[in-house]
Parts: sequence; structure tokens; C-alpha cells
Amino acid sequence: MSAKRLRVAILISGRGSNMRALVEAARAEDFPAEIILVLSNVPAAEGLAFAKDQGIATAVVDHRTFADRERFERDMQATLQKHGAELVCLAGFMRLLTPWFVEQWRDRMLNIHPALLPSYRGLHTHERALAEGVKIHGATVHFVAPAMDAGPIVAQAAAPVLDGDTPETLAARVLKLEHQIYPLALKLVAGGLARVEGARVRIASEQAAPAGLVWPQA
Ligand code: GAR
Repeated sequence: MSAKRLRVAILISGRGSNMRALVEAARAEDFPAEIILVLSNVPAAEGLAFAKDQGIATAVVDHRTFADRERFERDMQATLQKHGAELVCLAGFMRLLTPWFVEQWRDRMLNIHPALLPSYRGLHTHERALAEGVKIHGATVHFVAPAMDAGPIVAQAAAPVLDGDTPETLAARVLKLEHQIYPLALKLVAGGLARVEGARVRIASEQAAPAGLVWPQA
């Protein structure tokens, strides 16, 4: 009999390519998490169709139909609870969350951000990295804290910034890395190998010493 797998809900607002990477990783028999719900705040989010095709439950909680942020979040929370979610993965979920919602999922909610945090929080990360001329850019998976794009870091991957880069070419290079580190981070967290200790995440796995641009190593 296979071990109990952690029940994970993924929150999206659009394309859902990171959601897809998580769903594909979770197909492996030894993956410690199962994707039980894909929830979107945008009814037309492209990613919903993929999730449905995979036979995964989907839900739409349209923020525009609620009088305020609190009622929107309470509805999301009820939906997550109804499905028995144990961990939440934000994957291109483009709504700011209140401290109340973040507190419901303290140490149980991950986010992926297209930059090497704490640099370039917020939007337009690739444009800003190019404008400032940095030579190394990347992506971060972190536990969600109340401040935007903040919280203990689980995994990061770095990409070179090349002379001819546009925001689009750089975004594409970083996105490939996002698709590697999000499944890796979820595997570590769901498998109990990544634990929050204050502002840091301790990785309790017997991985090789840091050697590459992706850390922890897959
Ligand atoms: C991803 O690049 C993700 O890192 C970013 O939105 C994109 C969603 O793409 N998230 C943020 O900027 C959050 N601050 P996807 O829907 O194809 O996964």
C-alpha cells in the first residue's frame, strides 16, 4: 500500500503552466502529494481546462462577485476546506491575500515568484531586472508570509541574463526553471523534508553539496 499523500490545492489566475508542472510531477507513484483541487479567481483562466481534462476537481471563486476581500477569502477558505486541502500552492495567483487568510495557512502555503527574492518583489520582475542590468535572475519558491512575495525560502534557481534578452526571452528562461523548482519544493515540503525555522527553511535531506544553479538539488 502506498503512503498517505498530502492533499494539495493549487490556486491560479491564468495560464497555469506551474500548476501543470505540479500536476505532472504528482503523477509519480512516490510523489508525497496529490493535487485534489485547482481553484481560480478568474472564471476564464486557461489552466482550468487542463485540470478538468486531468480529472482534477476545479472551482471558481470570482473575486469580482464579492463585496470585499474578506468575503472573497472566506468563500475560498470554505471551498478549500470542503475539499479537504492540507496545503495550498499559489501558482500565478494574482490576488493579494489578507493576513487573516495567510494565517489560516501558516507554514502550509507555498508561492512561486519569478525573481530571486528578496529582489524584485511584485510585478514586472523581468523588465525591472533588465532595466537594472543584473547578470543573474531567477525564481523562488517560498512559504507565504503576510507581506507580498515574502516568507521563508524553500528553493531558488538562477538564470543568466544575456545581452540580447527581452522581457519575453528572459521570462521564458526563468519559467523553465520555475517548472523545475516548484515540483522539487513541493516534494520536499510534502515529504516533511523542508521545515520552517524562523525566517529560514531547513532542508533535511541527504542531497549533494550545493553545486549548481538550482538549490536544493533535485
Ligand atoms: C509565473 O511566472 C509565476 O512565477 C508568476 O506568474 C506566472 C504565472 O504563470 N507569479 C507571480 O508573479 C506572483 N507574484 P503560470 O500561470 O503559467 O504558472
